[in-house]
Amino acid sequence: MIGGRTKVCMILGHPLKHTRSPLMHNAAFAALGLDYVYVPLEVKPEGLSAVIQALREMENFGGANVTVPHKVHVMEYLDGKSQDAEAIGAVNTLYKRGGELWGENTDGRGFIASLQEEGEFLPQGKRVMLLGAGGAARAVIQALTWEGAEKIYLVNRTLRKAEELASSSNRETGRSSLVPMGFDDPLFPDRLQECHLLINSTSVGLSGDDSPLFDYRLLPSTLLVYDLIYDPELTPLLRAARQQGCGILNGLAMLVHQGALSFEIWTQRRPPVERMREAVGPIKFT
Ligand code: ATR
Repeated sequence: MIGGRTKVCMILGHPLKHTRSPLMHNAAFAALGLDYVYVPLEVKPEGLSAVIQALREMENFGGANVTVPHKVHVMEYLDGKSQDAEAIGAVNTLYKRGGELWGENTDGRGFIASLQEEGEFLPQGKRVMLLGAGGAARAVIQALTWEGAEKIYLVNRTLRKAEELASSSNRETGRSSLVPMGFDDPLFPDRLQECHLLINSTSVGLSGDDSPLFDYRLLPSTLLVYDLIYDPELTPLLRAARQQGCGILNGLAMLVHQGALSFEIWTQRRPPVERMREAVGPIKFT
C-alpha cells in the first residue's frame, strides 16, 4: 500500500506506453515487502532538465531508470557518473548519494548477466555478430569487450557508423576485435557461419511490416540468437532462428537483468530475479 513513507521510483522516457519496467519493479518491491512504488514519467526532451531539477528536491526519491531518448542527454544534469556510465557514454539508472544525484549504466552488466543466466552463454573467446551500431549497440560492445569476446562483427546498414564505432572501440582496447561490415558484404554469410552468438540491436522487428535484415535461412543451428526487442516477444528474426534450430532469447532477458542491478542500487537488497522474470513475460522459447 502506498503511504506517507513510500519511496517513489520512476522511469523517465518518451514514449513509455509499452514499458514493462513498472510491472517488473513493483512485483519485486512487493516480493520483498518494501515500501516503494515505481511509476512511468513520460517526459519530452525539452522537459528533461526541469524534471531532473525536481527530482533533486524530492525527499522521498527512491531511484529512477532513464530510457530512450534521454540516456545520453541526462548525463549533463548529474553530479557524477559511474565508470560504467562513462565507458558506455550513457546512463540508464539514477540514484542519490549524500544529497547528490548520480548516474549509473546497468545495461552492459545486465546484458552479460542475461547471457549467462538465461542463455548459459559465456562470451570469453567467442565470436559474435552484432547487428546495429546505435545506442543499444554501444553498451553491448563494452560488455562483450570486458568479457573477452574474441571477435565482434559489427554489421550496420550505414557502414560509416559501424566503422566509426569499431575504430573508437579498437583504439580504446588496443586490439582489433571489432570488425565493421555492411549487410551486403560478400563475406557476410561466411562470417555468420563462424559465429557463436548473433545479437540484433537494430529496430528492425519492432513493426510487423519491416523487411528482414538478411536471408534468415543462412542462420546456422549452432547460433544463439538474441534479439534486444521484446515487443513483439517473438520477432521475425527469432521465429526464423527457432525454425532453424537455434537457441533464442528476447529483450526481456536484458530488461530483467539490467533492472535487477538497478533495483539493487536503489534498495541495497538482493533482487528477486525469479519474480521479476515472471512479471515481464516469456524470455525463452522452445
Ligand atoms: P538504439 O538506441 O535503440 O540503438 P538508434 O541509436 O536509433 O537506436 O539505432 C538504431 C539502429 O537500427 C541503427 O543501427 C540503425 O541503422 P542506421 O545506422 O543505418 O540508421 C538500425 N536500423 C533502423 N532501421 C533499420 C532498417 N530498416 N534496416 C537496417 N537497420 C536499421
